[in-house]
Amino acid sequence: MTILRRGSVLVAGSANLDFVVRAAHVPAPGETVLGRAFDTFPGGKGANQAVACARAGGASTRLLLALGDDANALPLEASLRDAGVDLDIVLVHDEPTGVAFVCLSDTGENAITVAPGANSRLRPDHLPSLAGITHLLLQLETPLASVEAWARTARDAGAAVVLNAAPARTLPPNLLAAVDILIVNEGELAALTGVQGDIGRAMAALEVACVVVTLGARGCCARIGTQQLLQPAFAIQALDTTGAGDTFCGALVAALSRGMPFATALRRACAASALACTRLGAQAGVPSYDEVERLLAAEREPGAIDDLAAYCRLA
Ligand code: RIB
Repeated sequence: MTILRRGSVLVAGSANLDFVVRAAHVPAPGETVLGRAFDTFPGGKGANQAVACARAGGASTRLLLALGDDANALPLEASLRDAGVDLDIVLVHDEPTGVAFVCLSDTGENAITVAPGANSRLRPDHLPSLAGITHLLLQLETPLASVEAWARTARDAGAAVVLNAAPARTLPPNLLAAVDILIVNEGELAALTGVQGDIGRAMAALEVACVVVTLGARGCCARIGTQQLLQPAFAIQALDTTGAGDTFCGALVAALSRGMPFATALRRACAASALACTRLGAQAGVPSYDEVERLLAAEREPGAIDDLAAYCRLA
């Protein structure tokens, strides 16, 4: 299928090799769990989002990333190139490639610890030229000062700045002021606002033009100015939720870069992330553009919108 590639997306962020152990449940603090299968998968929030943008979203995508001079970098580069992502690689000689330790439970949940390594060396001046870039997509696995500088540079250049504020942390006001679209899950939303249990109120409290909240198996909601949008989830049997949020972010930004209305972009992002949860591996699980199309064509009305509105406390 021929894909229209209208806008151009630059992702600046992390790349990790994920070391994944499957186990009956995620260990509690102090607990040792005897796991089963072990495997490695290309991961890292920045790289996952770039793969999702290019593959599930069909958008022209570049990625600024840092890799160590080691064997762990090889599958990461191969996965990105295979997905059609153009790469700006900063090669770091005195830090290893980033790694993540993922415990994946039989219910598809996970617990992740990241050793950032080379990702921690990405500096403000590593940002490539923004000529032709319509959207810059950022996360928080690279140094905060760099994320803030990249956001401000892109804002000044007229590109839309999209921040996935993950992993959860508080953010400097100067960074938020440079963001056009903020994407968070419920925990990240609470960490940013201090508001618990009232998603509508928390979204309203953020001084960002557009806020998107991912809600796992419930779907997602958004505030664009004063307009509210709700998108129930597509029903699936979750095998691996690692990178589901990243697939959502990449697919959302891809759709927006191609000029789709926000509600359409949310629906595409929910469909892509639902499919990603049915497969193992953060990048290996990202569906193709055509697979997303097929799910969208097959599914008439996902989920119950009234339940989602009540959960989010949106009228
Ligand atoms: O969001 C999932 C990702 O978080 C994993 O791929 C892991 O590398 C960590 O960055």
